[in-house]
Formats: sequence, structure tokens, C-alpha cells
Amino acid sequence: MNRSNIYLDYSATTPVDPAVLLAMQPYFTDVFGNASSVHAHGRKAKAALERSREIVAAELGIYPGELLYTSGGTESNNTALIGAALALRKHGKSHIVTSKAEHQAVLETCEFLESIGFTVTYPDVNRYGAVEPEHLTGVLRDDTGLVSLMHANNELGTLNDIRTLGDICRDQGILFHSDIVQSFAKMPIDLSELPVDLASISAHKIYGPKGIGALYIRKGVEIERFQHGGGQERGRRGGTENVPLSVGFAKAVECMQQIREEERERLRSMRTQLLNGLTEKIEGLHVNTDISNSVDHILNVSFDAAKILIDGEALLMSLDTAGLSVSNGSACTSGSLEPSHVQLAIGHDAPTAKSAIRFSLGKYTTGGDIRHAVDIVAGVIQKIGRPAETV
Ligand SMILES: Cc1ncc(COP(=O)(O)O)c(C=O)c1O
Repeated sequence: MNRSNIYLDYSATTPVDPAVLLAMQPYFTDVFGNASSVHAHGRKAKAALERSREIVAAELGIYPGELLYTSGGTESNNTALIGAALALRKHGKSHIVTSKAEHQAVLETCEFLESIGFTVTYPDVNRYGAVEPEHLTGVLRDDTGLVSLMHANNELGTLNDIRTLGDICRDQGILFHSDIVQSFAKMPIDLSELPVDLASISAHKIYGPKGIGALYIRKGVEIERFQHGGGQERGRRGGTENVPLSVGFAKAVECMQQIREEERERLRSMRTQLLNGLTEKIEGLHVNTDISNSVDHILNVSFDAAKILIDGEALLMSLDTAGLSVSNGSACTSGSLEPSHVQLAIGHDAPTAKSAIRFSLGKYTTGGDIRHAVDIVAGVIQKIGRPAETV
């Protein structure tokens, strides 16, 4: 791993675990058969594919047949929303609900669905990015067919109460999809006892390879297929199956299971150290993560523009130059930094939104990294921050 910068961007992606790399290797070379071929080479590949599916499915408490492999979280979200929406339209349901704080893979898919005739409502979120039950009940309609609300917010770390939100949907016969990419395998999630019909996951957030994810489709849920081709993935996604990556995905899940409990505690304690360090050294810090209701590895802060002005572009560049890799959720559009839609959704004005920093910790993060990161952030804020009244 490149140690030149301190890496606190594990929510963006993680390095592949060496054990995952080792597990995948034979499936690129020795066991190279096409999993759909009926001969011995194909059968060997198929066996590995299905074994991996069993492992990933078991992590979620679901049947292997309910797990559709995809190319990642983005494709899983597209498949869930477009596939379910097209199927629901046949039953006269054309209203969809999602929140303003979802990942772009959900929001842009919803924009596409609007362009082909669906109606989408975006309920408010609270100041930590969570949808409250009353936000949801207030927007449901007779023709609502699908609700999509994420588990852990990828920028803030805050958790939605998917049990309560899913129950509301189930009571009204509405399908409930959840993007659980950021919490999957990092905390135990048993979908067999949650009111969730569709759930998206991705391997590269848990030290697995990039380019593979999966969608949980509860048995009996109708999804209109839109990737046509061969009959792979039970006829739901044409295309030669990616056996090496599926093996890597399963290995990554097993590695997470082995370290999960102690790792969660370690991450929680380092996040506290980070928060305490930042609060001690920097004034005007705004904590955007609901610390008591969040995944353990994310801390999101911003700086109240009414007190201190931080130039968002200068912030990210200066942190990088000073040796810290973090992100802030802003999108770079036509050369200028657009504030993160999540920061705006939780009520920040644009300058405060642009000053956000997302720290996301992982298994190679050390206490020393945290101490160093605190010093770097404090130094950069001192250098580029301007008291609001001088502007
Ligand atoms: C919450 C969430 N959903 C979806 C995605 C997209 O996943 P992938 O990169 O596997 O397409 C991400 C990754 O950034 C994410 O954090």
C-alpha cells in the first residue's frame, strides 16, 4: 500500500486483502473455464462461482438463489430501481420514493426513471442525513410502488433505521430497496429478519476486488430484466460470469467475518480519538455524523461559514499536499467544485457544504495516522481559514 499519504478514504475504496488476491489467482489461469460450459472446465468454474455465492449469501442470511452478481454497487442500484420500476408499472404503480441524501447511483437512476414517465418524491432528511419515519409516511401515495433508502450514508456514515422504514413500506405493500454498500460485512446484517426486498452490495469497500457487487432480490420479487444476452444469473443478467472476482468477493467477506468484532471496536475508538483531537485543536467544527447511530469508520465534519470561511478547493488540495488523502463529497463539474448534495440536504449553506471533510478509517489505519491527521487538518485550517467577518 502506498504510504506516502495517510489514507483515510476507505469509504471510497479499500486495498485488496492479500488473502483475497491469493484466493483469486488460480481462477485467472488454472480454473479459467466458462461457468456456463457443460464440460469439466466449465463445471469447475461453476462450482467455484456457486460456492462464492453461498458464502456471500450466508453473510446476509439469504438463499444463494436470491443473490444476483453484478459489476458493483452502481449496477446493483440501477438493476434494483429500473428492474423493479419496470415490473411495477405493469401493475399501475409509477411512483417512487428515495431521499435527497442517497448515492448518485440511486439519484441519477431516479432521474432516468423520471425521464421515462415515473414520478419520484424526495422526502427530507434530518440534520445527520437520516430519513425519519414521518418523513416517509408523509410522501407515500396509492400508486407508490418502490421506496429506496440507503442503510449507511456514504458521506456521513449515519444509519437509516431500515427496519422501521421497511416495516412502513411492507405494511402498505410497497417494495423496499436499500443500498447497504457502506455497512455490508462491516456490521452484521441479517436480511432474513429485516423488511427489505432488494439490497445492493459491493466488494471493493471490504478489501475485495473492484468490479463486482451483488443485488439481493427477495424470492418472489419481480424484476424486469434489462441486460439481455445469455441465460446467466438465472436469466436475470446476461454475460459471462466473473468467476475470479466472485471468489475474491467471497474471500473478502470471510476475512471481514474473522476480524469484524474487534475491528469495529478499534475503529470506534480511533474515530473518537480523531473527533476529540479535531475538536480540541479547531474552533467552529460542525459534526455531521450521528455518532451514536452510524457505521464505525466514518466521521464527517464541516466548518460553519458564519464563523470561519474555508475555500473547498484549497482545502482538499492543501490536505493532499500536506499528506492526507480524504474526500469531501463535492463533485468537480466543469472545473469548479459543486457542493455535495448530501451536505445541502442536511441543511448546510453552499460555503459550509464545500468545507466538509469525510474521514473514513479502515483496517490499516493506526493511532499514529490519526494523530498525524489531526495535526495536518489543524495546520491546514489555520493556514487557509479566514474569519467570516473579514470577507
Ligand atoms: C452507498 C454507495 N452506493 C453505491 C456505491 C457505488 O458502488 P460501486 O463503486 O461498486 O459501483 C458506493 C461507492 O461509492 C456507495 O458508497
